[in-house]
Amino acid sequence: MIELLDEVQLEEIRDDFPVLQQKVHGKPLVYFDNAATSQKPRIVIDAMNDYYQRYNANVHRGIHALAERATREYELAREKIARFINAPSQESVIFTRGTTEAINLVAYSWAQTNLKNGDEILLTFMEHHSNTVPWYQVCERTGAVIKRIELNPDGTLRLDDLDKLITERTKLVAVTQQSNVLGTINPVRLIADAAHKKGAVVLVDGAQSVPHMPVDVQALGCDFFVFSGHKMCGPTASGILYGRRAILEAMPPFMGGGEMIKEVWFDHVKYNDLPYKFEAGTPNIAEAIGLGVAVDYLTRIGMEKIRQHEKEITQYALDCLKDFPEITVYGPYDVEKRGGLVTFTLGDVHPHDIATFADQDGIAIRAGHHCAMPLHKKLGLAATARASFYLYNTRDEVDTFIAMLHKAKKFFGACPTGRAMGY
Ligand SMILES: Cc1ncc(COP(=O)(O)O)c(C=O)c1O
Repeated sequence: MIELLDEVQLEEIRDDFPVLQQKVHGKPLVYFDNAATSQKPRIVIDAMNDYYQRYNANVHRGIHALAERATREYELAREKIARFINAPSQESVIFTRGTTEAINLVAYSWAQTNLKNGDEILLTFMEHHSNTVPWYQVCERTGAVIKRIELNPDGTLRLDDLDKLITERTKLVAVTQQSNVLGTINPVRLIADAAHKKGAVVLVDGAQSVPHMPVDVQALGCDFFVFSGHKMCGPTASGILYGRRAILEAMPPFMGGGEMIKEVWFDHVKYNDLPYKFEAGTPNIAEAIGLGVAVDYLTRIGMEKIRQHEKEITQYALDCLKDFPEITVYGPYDVEKRGGLVTFTLGDVHPHDIATFADQDGIAIRAGHHCAMPLHKKLGLAATARASFYLYNTRDEVDTFIAMLHKAKKFFGACPTGRAMGY
């Protein structure tokens, strides 16, 4: 049995986050915009300050004490992150500025080298623009084409015809592990196995999964796995590309410059070994170190415990939202199949109006297309509102959010939609 976070632990966790201690518009902040970016615990902020105040130096270059310490801490962060996602080696863990950069790296380096006219890239209808636009660009340059896995009415993937969708021409399957809009958690292993049977490479977007659940890249069976540090208590401009070693070895570098070289001659260059071949220039040192500390923090609390806590909060929110005939919730109702976020519409009230109304009560939610326009077009919507939870959120905060929705529905005169769940 997995333990839940008890009230004392939750209070202690909340105390770790300086941002959460404030009032917004005179009300205690309720931060429900964690899918956009999470808040940072004091130890992460302190670790980054410590780097700048005590051992600021470049990595892998100097032989003085500060440079050696900076290099040690930077590489220690890589080691911790590799362990966190169960990567088979540190060399297969590459620091990037985040998910977007990691996907672009794969698109430019692997896809442009390996794809040709008529090849297929299989996506889903729930991908973030970061896992969409780089593939459009690859298609423009190579003549490859995009296909998509359809959705079931409950927001899960339609996988019954997966074997037909993945053909001999499919070279890449790129899928999110958890949707940032529907919350759907996808059966990545099953998709990876089907893709590998046809010889396709699999990229998994873990931007919304790694912060919220235990992730084991080897158990998922993927070839590439990408995520962002800022959504998991880490700094902005930190992120990871994990890749299978043999594939990374065969890929050309993404960018050229310092660090990614072994030798530079008058007319040619010998590239560095992994992972440095893909880390051109001075990296985001403080950010990498901060991400390592964020991983320590999450590990100490326990990813399984965090997942359970979010399941509990999400179930509570979904149950409360059932009382609103005006509200449609998107994505699966079953918390086993979804992560800790709830995307909804309130009658025909514009989601931006709901978010502005919520802000007056100190509640931070997101409204818009959430960088998933193809999904919103599929749903026939221009925008939705999204409340997304994390380890520091509480049932009391959900109550504050629900009370705000009761006020909003009266204020805007929202009418029932006749669609309580799903789409
Ligand atoms: C599923 C998903 N993929 C990719 C991204 C892009 O992440 P970043 O902006 O950190 O590169 C996000 C960010 O919201 C996301 O939710």
